[in-house]
Amino acid sequence: MPKTYSAFFFLFAVIIFSACKNEEKKSYTGWRSYGGGNENIHYSSLTEIDTNNVQQLKPVWEYHTNDVDTANHSQIQCNPIMIDGIVYGTSPKMRLFAIDAATGKEKWVFNPFDSLAGNKMAFFVLNNCRGVSYWTDGNQDKRIFYTAGSWLYAVDATSGKQIISFGDSGKIDLHDGLDRNVKDLFVTSTTPPAVYKDLLIMGTRVDEGPAAAPGHIRAFDTRTGKLRWIFHTIPHPGEAGYESWDDTTAYKHIGGANAWSGIIVDEKRGIVYASTGSASFDFYGGKRTGNDLYADCLLALDANTGKRIWHFQDVHHDIWDRDFSSPGMLVTVTNSGKQIDAIATTTKTGFVFVFNRETGEPVFPITETPVPTETSLVGEKVAPTQPIPSLPKPFVRQSFTEKDINHLLPDSSYEDIRKKLASYKTGIMFNPPSTQGTVIFPGFDGGGEWGGPSFDPETGLLYVNANEMPWVLTMVALKQDSKKQETFLEAGQRLYKANCMSCHGTDRKGSGNFPSLINIEKKYKEDSFNFLVSSGRRMMPAFKQLTADERGAIASFVLSIKKNQNNKFVEVPNPEDAWRKLPYSITGYNKFLSKEGYPAIAPPWGTLNAINLNTGELSWKDTLGNYPEFAAKGIQTGTENYGGSVITKGGLLFIGASRDGKFRAYNKRTGKLLFESTLPAPAFATPAVFEHNGKEFIVIACGGGKLNTTSGDSYVAFALP
Ligand code: HEC
Repeated sequence: MPKTYSAFFFLFAVIIFSACKNEEKKSYTGWRSYGGGNENIHYSSLTEIDTNNVQQLKPVWEYHTNDVDTANHSQIQCNPIMIDGIVYGTSPKMRLFAIDAATGKEKWVFNPFDSLAGNKMAFFVLNNCRGVSYWTDGNQDKRIFYTAGSWLYAVDATSGKQIISFGDSGKIDLHDGLDRNVKDLFVTSTTPPAVYKDLLIMGTRVDEGPAAAPGHIRAFDTRTGKLRWIFHTIPHPGEAGYESWDDTTAYKHIGGANAWSGIIVDEKRGIVYASTGSASFDFYGGKRTGNDLYADCLLALDANTGKRIWHFQDVHHDIWDRDFSSPGMLVTVTNSGKQIDAIATTTKTGFVFVFNRETGEPVFPITETPVPTETSLVGEKVAPTQPIPSLPKPFVRQSFTEKDINHLLPDSSYEDIRKKLASYKTGIMFNPPSTQGTVIFPGFDGGGEWGGPSFDPETGLLYVNANEMPWVLTMVALKQDSKKQETFLEAGQRLYKANCMSCHGTDRKGSGNFPSLINIEKKYKEDSFNFLVSSGRRMMPAFKQLTADERGAIASFVLSIKKNQNNKFVEVPNPEDAWRKLPYSITGYNKFLSKEGYPAIAPPWGTLNAINLNTGELSWKDTLGNYPEFAAKGIQTGTENYGGSVITKGGLLFIGASRDGKFRAYNKRTGKLLFESTLPAPAFATPAVFEHNGKEFIVIACGGGKLNTTSGDSYVAFALP
């Protein structure tokens, strides 16, 4: 072939090839990023598996990561991706793997621990990882990005080796470039960056206590790891939103307002959407009075520059930890005869908000509604109104009063719940936190959770799995300062209350999903305890900001180290003390349960909901998951659930997520359960659906570990035999 011809031919081939790639992106036959694609709609256009043959579905391979940590309830929350016949995902101990999509055979494993020499190990946080990102320059440069500990790693997608030219020898420290010194504070990421051109756009997970890093959103260069832009989710002087904080110096001290649930991209418009969580401390807002922009916001930012285009705050001055728990989805809806390119987002409170993607104008009217403002907490100023959408109607119950008490309980237990309920503030979702106890319902984990909803572009239906678990939030006053002459034991008790009680409970018996520390000295010596407290693990934040004496004092108390308990405690004042020493903490994240361990509220406890986004009406609703003891009597209760669903053109909805460890397929139009299979461990993760060599696969991580279930270490692929 003459030179010019072959050049043309080459160009032609490249065009065809990239067109195919785009085709795969647009036609929803692959699973190239977290949530299935930039729109994050968890949708596949594949039809090989359909409502007629789904009963024949079989596990075709199971990949074991071989690093399960049953004793510490390890988990896998990862939604894997598939690129060119290779599935990428993460393991319980944060290893990144590449496996053959057809067989599950391992190609390589990258272990982030290997790159951390010596004492850096001490700062390794075992974080939850919900996914990884892929970027290519279109040629040979193919990269996987994911966060392990506080580092964002760049790994060669072909070889599994760190890409040394990226950041500091293949990784960047997420503590850097936050425009504030946060070296000692907890910063990691549960969700992978969004990829737009050669930018990695990402939020973070930060502490929710009084010592928290700010949740600014950043864009890094995919090639070099250099910071390209930052959006201050806690605005600096001169930036819009700064005036929403009464204290003009809050931006130097207050943390949170972080986009932990992920970021989505409208590639055509060059807009990224990020949803943020509450400002810290979650439950006492006396040091951050005002509306606290951009906490609890859906933000539309220019993907190229990070400039804000519009925002919507769904909870003003949040004092309930009502983070946006998933990043929204890019959808097209028909409203009053008009097609609107929209963004839809579900909330922990059970609302669905739908906005015009470009303008931020609500598709269904939203009303600022008066809420109770009375509080006995010194310094607190509760927001007088909260935004409520007229449609869709909430997909979970939003209040818990006597008529809702669990009727499946024995009489004595019912009576016990009735008395307790009568002693709490309850009935209104926006009742402020109180020392008397405030029922949080929908609960801390939704309503909707991080699995997020899925969407069917063919029908306009949104599908969301939800929890209906009441929790009780009880505030307690703290002694703010140390006594003049304190022993380690006294200081340890005081510091435990200020730093640890919110999760491990007043009596150290644990709370909600957080473990008990009773007899913990059998498991940890002072060294390993110190290591854990300063590095954190999964949902346990790192406490590097504590001084050695503070850690020693806490250890003397929690580990009952008698010989240290009478040591003299020396307080080293920290300039941040005025901000970090709060007058209140909480007694724990306590689920409102009966003696028998069942939710205090009547079922359903877990549901699956199909909502028509064109009309705002509920299309169908069913329970999700079972308790065998009730199912045996024909009572479908649903269970708590984490991880999302996937919708296919074959007419199906696939979901794991439930506590009973089943994988299920439903008819997406009717909600009829068509297929059920028991997984090796519960799948608190979202499945991935893709085509490989002409065959449709569904892959799901089975990591267990949450909700007192046994941990697992496998990914299972289902296909037709
Ligand atoms: C935001 C909630 C939270 C706070 C605050 C917190 N922890 Fe934890 N803690 C956890 C979670 C979650 C785990 C389980 C970690 C895992 O998944 O491995 C844990 C685990 C632990 C363990 C290990 C338990 C075991 O069985 O191995 C110890 C010890 C511990 N925490 C001590 C502390 C101390 C001391 C403090 C205060 C300085 C503290 N924690 C503050 C959430 C928290």
